[in-house]
Amino acid sequence: MNRDFKNILFSEERIKERVVQLGAEITRDYSGKSPMLIGVLKGSFVFLADLARSIDLDCEIRFLSCSSYGSSTVTTGEVNIKEPLDFDVRQIAGRDVLLVEDIIDSGVTMVELREFFSEFSPASLKICTLLDKVSRREVPIKADYAGFICPDEFVVGYGLDYAEKYRNLPHIAALEPETCSG
Ligand code: IMP
Ligand code: MG
Repeated sequence: MNRDFKNILFSEERIKERVVQLGAEITRDYSGKSPMLIGVLKGSFVFLADLARSIDLDCEIRFLSCSSYGSSTVTTGEVNIKEPLDFDVRQIAGRDVLLVEDIIDSGVTMVELREFFSEFSPASLKICTLLDKVSRREVPIKADYAGFICPDEFVVGYGLDYAEKYRNLPHIAALEPETCSG
């Protein structure tokens, strides 16, 4: 694979360890409940696959597709939830919903998703993100579970892409600025 990324920020081992911790925390917090995990595609597919296997509860796993970036490294500010969803959104009424994201950057995506889902009366609605770029927040949103605080760099790997590349890296790396400028 073309190694045009700068440096490894989070190694495979570190991610593994942290995901197990998050799974244990979620298992504890949702004890006696069966949460509905909703992964935001495509970036969350690797994280959710590992996280779900670290959660010792009956849970339902759903996905939705969302995009605001196209092939750029900055948000367009407009979030598209791809419809129809692969489930009837009215099914979330009374359920404990946990939105699972790869990374929160400006926060625009999560604010949109939270607003969208809260209209369907879930019993609870929480957010779990692997990475949190807190320094880049443009709208107020806080993750209930966050794996790592992420520096202000464009990162790839472990599900995260740049123009659909690098999702299959087992670690998370920062991209060289010249790689993302085009
Ligand atoms: P936000 O709406 O600005 O918070 O952006 C959230 C979405 O942008 C995430 O779901 C990612 O898909 C994408 N994103 C944000 N930062 C990065 C990054 O550094 N690498 C890859 N994708 C990113
Ligand atoms: Mg995403």
